[in-house]
Amino acid sequence: MSKMLQSMCRQFADEELAPNAGSWDKEHKLPVEVIKKMGEMGLMGVSQPTEFGGSGMDTMSYAISLEEISRGCASCGVVMSANNSLYCDPIKMFGTAEQKEKWLTDFASGNKLGCFALSEPGNGSDAGAASTVAVADGDHFVLNGTKNWITNGPTADAAIVFATSDKSAKHKGISAFLVEKGTPGFTTGKPEDKLGIRASGTCSLIFEDCRIPRSHLLGDLGMGFKIAMMTLDGGRIGIASQGVGIAQASLDAAVRYSETRTAFGSPISKLQAIQFKIADMAMKIESARLLTWRAAQMKDDKENFIKAAAMAKLAASEAATFCSHQAIQVLGGYAGYVTDYPVERHYRDARITEIYEGTSEIQRLVIAGQVYKDYA
Ligand code: CAA
Ligand code: FAD
Repeated sequence: MSKMLQSMCRQFADEELAPNAGSWDKEHKLPVEVIKKMGEMGLMGVSQPTEFGGSGMDTMSYAISLEEISRGCASCGVVMSANNSLYCDPIKMFGTAEQKEKWLTDFASGNKLGCFALSEPGNGSDAGAASTVAVADGDHFVLNGTKNWITNGPTADAAIVFATSDKSAKHKGISAFLVEKGTPGFTTGKPEDKLGIRASGTCSLIFEDCRIPRSHLLGDLGMGFKIAMMTLDGGRIGIASQGVGIAQASLDAAVRYSETRTAFGSPISKLQAIQFKIADMAMKIESARLLTWRAAQMKDDKENFIKAAAMAKLAASEAATFCSHQAIQVLGGYAGYVTDYPVERHYRDARITEIYEGTSEIQRLVIAGQVYKDYA
């Protein structure tokens, strides 16, 4: 099953994503029709239940398909990752049957797009310091505050929003809320102008006396931080897959180019200096891919995959930045540094994988915490 999905996604990436990704990036344009097509292919809810619009596959299939999509277009990769991992997964894990019907079915099938709003202007890594407030008012909650850098924010039909009802309780005061686009008091900021993944939309979400029914609470009151952390464990497998895809695209470009470019009378692929770069890139990609697949397998086997996901995300993001950097070196000024060729985009796209869904420093913190637990 995973093999079939991989070849379907590979063909789609080669034929429909890679040839257009450069122009979507230049125009900062989300390819809405392509995202819709990904929905029709079952890619917007890969491991969501079929009864709620998903494809009913496992996390391994998700990782494999997301790598291939990101190899073709890293912006499409993050749109897919945010919808699958960050929006659909917590609803699958914590939603009631009625919530799944209303908030999951259309999103897992790709008819609608979701987003996940945890970060704020004053806190990204320190997610427990949320200052967006949710005040209970009869059978409603009233939200006030701003969420920042939200992937899919400009076009999302709904958001999972984390807000605190009791700041003094620190992370235990945070809850998760489902908020629909168009709810009075909910607006979005202007799209951010970014270094990379420029075809994906990122913006702030602003809540001003935004009233939502109590039935839009996801999970129990005060459970939001745990929901966010468990969601991010799965999300890190998604971003790891995105990183592997960017790294693989960089290697693909470096190998192909080095076989055709000649210098000093022979293809540069014959130079040991180039071969060593190719070897290092290939080794880092294989290592990152194996860590990513291991984390996915552990999630599917219902093992504790917190450390595995953080390791995969750390290794894959570092592989993506390393390989895209090396690819520019192999392609040189003629084809590496100019925007007519894709590798400068891979270099810009790679950089974010070391920042979002927990910076590399935060991944190390999570890994070390789990290692010490293993020894306790
Ligand atoms: N699963 C379940 N529970 C967890 C958990 C996990 N993975 N990690 C922590 N917890 C629980 C702890 O057990 C603890 O529970 P109790 O209170 O019951 O003891 C509670 O959460 C608090 O844990 P910590 O004291 O470890 O929390 P902390 O405040 O020190 O923060 C952190 C830990 C790992 C740094 C966390 O804040 C974090 O992950 N920060 C990074 C935020 C992040 O990744 N944001 C990404 C936003 S989404 C994004 O960027 C989108 C995109 O890419 C497209
Ligand atoms: P800070 O937390 O201010 O960190 C600054 C520096 O300090 C970093 O190097 C960090 O590693 C370091 N640092 C902080 N704390 C520690 C520590 N304890 N130990 C060691 N070093 C530390 N968020 C969402 O909620 N949803 C989204 O969909 C989303 N999408 C995003 C898309 C893009 C394009 C971007 C740029 C961001 C997105 N984010 C999203 C936010 C992203 O998760 C945060 O940017 C990230 O978690 C880091 O937070 P920060 O930028 O506030 O950096």
